[in-house]
Amino acid sequence: MVEAVAMDLKSQINLEKLPQHIAVIMDGNGRWAKQHNKPRVFGHRNGVRSVREVTEAAAELGVPYLTLYAFSTENWKRPYTEVNALMGLLVDTLHKEIETLMKNNIRLQAIGDLSKLPSSTHRALLDGIEKTRHNTRMTLVLALNYSAKWEIIEAARKLAQEVQADKLDPNAIDEKIFANALSTSGMPDPELLIRTSGETRISNFLLWQIAYAELYFTPVFWPDFRKENLYEAIIDYQQRERRFGKISEQLAK
Ligand code: IPE
Ligand code: IPE
Ligand code: MG
Repeated sequence: MVEAVAMDLKSQINLEKLPQHIAVIMDGNGRWAKQHNKPRVFGHRNGVRSVREVTEAAAELGVPYLTLYAFSTENWKRPYTEVNALMGLLVDTLHKEIETLMKNNIRLQAIGDLSKLPSSTHRALLDGIEKTRHNTRMTLVLALNYSAKWEIIEAARKLAQEVQADKLDPNAIDEKIFANALSTSGMPDPELLIRTSGETRISNFLLWQIAYAELYFTPVFWPDFRKENLYEAIIDYQQRERRFGKISEQLAK
């Protein structure tokens, strides 16, 4: 039954109009666990299946870029035990899933202040990035110790240093040069941003890159998010008119 519903939804997707980059704020693990009378970590552990499902579904459809917000710079403020459990879960998951990424020809990348991650997490991540670097079907980007404001400041600092070293004319700085100084350099901007768990905020995620993204909010908690939920989001996205400032009549149909 569930399979049939998923297939039906999948068949409604126009593969010619897929978002070239989908970004996801995976939220609601803690509340999901609470609903099941379990500790918060139980929610994080169950969120791994959703990561697998969404990655597989996006790759099967042919979405070129998928970015998942896994840990924000602000998340360090959580209780130490939760942060520790999350970092451990990341290491375990990376170790377990690299084979699957290889099998599915998926390249792993990461954005965020990675050097501040615990060394075991950092190493597992760099190892995964290195092993999958020649894969071509889809790029899976993990946002880890990520904050958009941090990223924008880093870019500004980098450009300022180039100006100071006489390698860049300040008047030459345009959108393209600025975008290339961000950690997402070379990636298309997300066209669809999904946030689960009913929260309708951005929480310091990809502020520059989502300037024209379509936003999709669902009440579903992340550990319950399945392939069909991704299909629903893409179908919703495809029904929208993206005007980019123009009026309807100007858009080529
Ligand atoms: C998202 O779920 C996972 C991370 C932020 C790491 P939460 O842990 O934020 O779950 P809620 O929002 O408290 O339910
Ligand atoms: C955003 O979720 C960060 C991630 C999903 C990694 P949070 O649960 O940390 O966001 P707030 O605190 O509700 O804004
Ligand atoms: Mg949350």
